[in-house]
Amino acid sequence: MTAGATLEPLDPVRYMSNRSSGKMGYALARAARMRGAKVTLVSGPTALKPPRDVALSRVKTAEEMRRTVLADCGLYDVIIKAAAVLDWRPKETSEHKIKKGRGVQTLELVENPDILAELGCMQGNSRCLLVGFAAETQDLIANAKEKLKKKNLDLIVVNDVSREDTGFEADTNAVKIVYRDGHMEDLPLMPKQEVADQLLDRIKTLWEKSS
Ligand code: C5P
Repeated sequence: MTAGATLEPLDPVRYMSNRSSGKMGYALARAARMRGAKVTLVSGPTALKPPRDVALSRVKTAEEMRRTVLADCGLYDVIIKAAAVLDWRPKETSEHKIKKGRGVQTLELVENPDILAELGCMQGNSRCLLVGFAAETQDLIANAKEKLKKKNLDLIVVNDVSREDTGFEADTNAVKIVYRDGHMEDLPLMPKQEVADQLLDRIKTLWEKSS
């Protein structure tokens, strides 16, 4: 399970990140553990208390998350990538604090590796179940379908992050699920812990069908 935002330093005091709280990923890790799964949680920086009896790896940058996930990816039956990974990072990180007074600065960005796409590419015959998330503000289903295909996923969970009650810091979520075979489900608004359980029910069914 991956959760939370990643963070990319600009200098020793500044960074780029996003608003992901990690609540959905932590809820999933907790729910999976409560069902008896052996859970590894790779988490970006968050204020959340980690669930009990879960192997926690704390990471900051997308590259650290990539290394941690890829190192052991062959061991997992299911990989759920709920983390909101930064798509870009600063081209350069300054060793010392960047001083103001040099006028307006331009920040040059480079693309981060897409961890989930990399995992999708590695899927051979002995595939593990690959679950992605998509935080969208428009064209939810179209965007989710495109990501599912591009990243070679088994299912993708999409939510509207422009809404207060389904957005990043909320305790509730209303998700749509898009499956590899094209069918879709629309779950109503509910606490994130319940969303986690609903998702695990679906993932378990898929897992049983595929194994
Ligand atoms: O393309 P987008 O960022 O919307 O895709 C979201 C999904 O891809 C999430 O499951 C996220 O964890 C994963 N992702 C990733 N590496 C990235 C960007 C996104 O694994 N660099």
